[in-house]
Amino acid sequence: VVAFFQPKALAGKRVVVTAGPTFEALDPIRGITNHSSGKMGFAIARAAREAGAEVTLVAGPVSLRTPRGVLRIDVKSARDMLAATQAETPQADVFVATAAVADWRPATRADQKIKKDGSGEAPTVAFTENPDILATVAKTERARSGDLFCVGFAAESHDLVKHAKAKRERKGIPLLVGNIGPLTFGQDDNQMLLVDADGVVELPRASKLVLARQLVAEIARRLKP
Ligand code: CTP
Ligand code: CA
Repeated sequence: VVAFFQPKALAGKRVVVTAGPTFEALDPIRGITNHSSGKMGFAIARAAREAGAEVTLVAGPVSLRTPRGVLRIDVKSARDMLAATQAETPQADVFVATAAVADWRPATRADQKIKKDGSGEAPTVAFTENPDILATVAKTERARSGDLFCVGFAAESHDLVKHAKAKRERKGIPLLVGNIGPLTFGQDDNQMLLVDADGVVELPRASKLVLARQLVAEIARRLKP
């Protein structure tokens, strides 16, 4: 009997994925957040695990089950997500940033619930820019040398190809995935553009899990030998 083994595409590799939104507190009751179900990131974590990788999923507040065999770290704010990610990426071979990170957080967080004062006047909220998790990781020596392969996601409302190409260069990453269409939030399927140094390739509409498996294969064949 002759057995043929297809080695798994990410066997022996470590993959870190950020997923879901972040939540930026304004007071103990309220905060601001982004639209994101986390489904795409969870599907990528699952697909990477199925491809043989050791996977850490850094998840913002979402209601999804952890994929089998995946280590999950729950976080709330962008700063927490950055800290958890930075603890994991020095040992990783691949970093996939799917999280919808809030670009800004309230500059101050009140210790107590902000109450209406009866005057009818609304409070003014000042914002501070959050750290860019992907750009921060992409600037590290391991990422720049190609030992840590970084992948970004972009959801744009218009001019997707133009913005995706510019975003890939601005973040200094080898691969950026563009979500086509504004209707992907919470949906089970999606349509993606892969933007790398060679140009743009479209992955036709399919379930998020099918696309995640295709993306994992695309990542695997781009890794340093
Ligand atoms: N990202 C991140 N940390 C941030 C903002 C974005 O890690 N503070 C990551 C996202 O997870 C995604 C990529 O960067 O992989 C692009 O996010 P996006 O919001 O599209 O880009 P921004 O640089 O924030 O630009 P803008 O929102 O103005 O389009
Ligand atoms: Ca943003």
